[in-house]
Amino acid sequence: MPRPPSRDTLNELKAAVGSGSWFDSQEDLAPYIVDFRRLYRGVTPLALLPRDAAQVSKILEICNRDEVAVVPHGGNTGYCGAATPDESGSQIVLSMRRLNRVRRLYAANDSMIIEAGCTLAEAQTAARDADRLFPLSLGSEGTAQIGGNLSTNAGGTAVLRYGMMRDLVLGLEVVLADGRVMSSLKSLRKDNTGYDVKSLFIGAEGTLGLITAASLKLFPLPADTATALVAVDSPQHALDLLSMLRTAAGDQVTTFELMPRLAVELTVKHVAGVANPLAQGAAWYLLIELTSPNPRQNLAALLTDELQRAATEGMVEDALIATSIAQSLAMWKLRESVPEAQRHHGASLKHDISVPVSSVPKLIEDGSALVRRLAPEGDVLGYGHLGDGNLHFNVSLRPGADSTAFLRRGEQLERAIFDLVDSLGGSISAEHGIGRLKAAEFASRADPVELSVMRDLKRTLDPKGILNPGKVLT
Ligand code: MLT
Ligand code: ZN
Repeated sequence: MPRPPSRDTLNELKAAVGSGSWFDSQEDLAPYIVDFRRLYRGVTPLALLPRDAAQVSKILEICNRDEVAVVPHGGNTGYCGAATPDESGSQIVLSMRRLNRVRRLYAANDSMIIEAGCTLAEAQTAARDADRLFPLSLGSEGTAQIGGNLSTNAGGTAVLRYGMMRDLVLGLEVVLADGRVMSSLKSLRKDNTGYDVKSLFIGAEGTLGLITAASLKLFPLPADTATALVAVDSPQHALDLLSMLRTAAGDQVTTFELMPRLAVELTVKHVAGVANPLAQGAAWYLLIELTSPNPRQNLAALLTDELQRAATEGMVEDALIATSIAQSLAMWKLRESVPEAQRHHGASLKHDISVPVSSVPKLIEDGSALVRRLAPEGDVLGYGHLGDGNLHFNVSLRPGADSTAFLRRGEQLERAIFDLVDSLGGSISAEHGIGRLKAAEFASRADPVELSVMRDLKRTLDPKGILNPGKVLT
């Protein structure tokens, strides 16, 4: 069991990084103790900002020896409180921000080695500067860091084509709990030498080791892009359209995002500069993007043909294909502003869930019935990554309704929605992770054998339990 650090331990930790690389005043610690959604406010005696893996190694060696808990901290954009210390005042924070070098970019190998503290946007820029694409893409990419993206196995809006963060990793450098550095920064497409150890640290939220660098896959830059905003009358028609487009365009279908009317209306209302270019009042809207590295692919023509055919078959009610970059950016802004609009609108209950893609219509129908029954003060605002079967099945307080009653119903509603998700073979956390927020639900719903394997791994890799205690596993 970790214990509060002694004064000597704190001094030794400060010396390990040197002056200017640690904070211990309340004022300086403020950014490290509250999570993005303000669900948790922790206490810490010290935040450390190491500059390289050797310093991270020294820190963990000291913490392991003295049994002091360490909470890794990236861009603090997570939704489940994984990067926030608890209220005990005994956990130190380790910020990765200063490990922010692109160590090497191998254009000919379509890969780059990049440190954990680089933001996702910095990774994308480094790739673009070498005429390559790093495809992970999400709303918080200007702040979210690669280490956090890896540790939460981040998703976003291009998973349909490129997969989640896990799928983009060739190798990792990880500092283990006792300070040993596992250097597995290979840049290989094929490597069948034993267990896939690096995989364990992806999505582990810093509970098994601290990722300090990664070798990531790069792709050709898109040279032809077609973006459309499409109105449909039901999630089933949206899915039929997805299937039709994938038959016609295969992997060129990069993005397929669903928004209900309420999401679009709130975004137009609350976020400056957002407009809905389609006829108002459709039940559902889709943001669709096709991309290809071939500049002569003529994706706009292909998308136009398919959407026209879909309209003839009654699948599509209205559609607009962007004819300029500005129009395409405006469509993207509409989608990416939904979380912000929802925040402005007021209290909400959030569920980041996934089911097999074909079950999304049932999830929406049965989930909406649950909301009507269990949280009648709320309106369903379920939007997200339809192409991946992942919805942010959120519920927003209806203006003027009783917010106390609404929030009180959160737990019961969540349980019912998670039961529904389980019955459909889904996941209670599709892309935002477990952190502290979902640790108890996860423990009660995971396969017991799988959970015991996870606990065995935790005990093996972190026998003193110093790495991000209380997160993922209870
Ligand atoms: C999104 O897809 O917009 C995010 O994952 C969910 C959110 O920020 O609420
Ligand atoms: Zn999302």
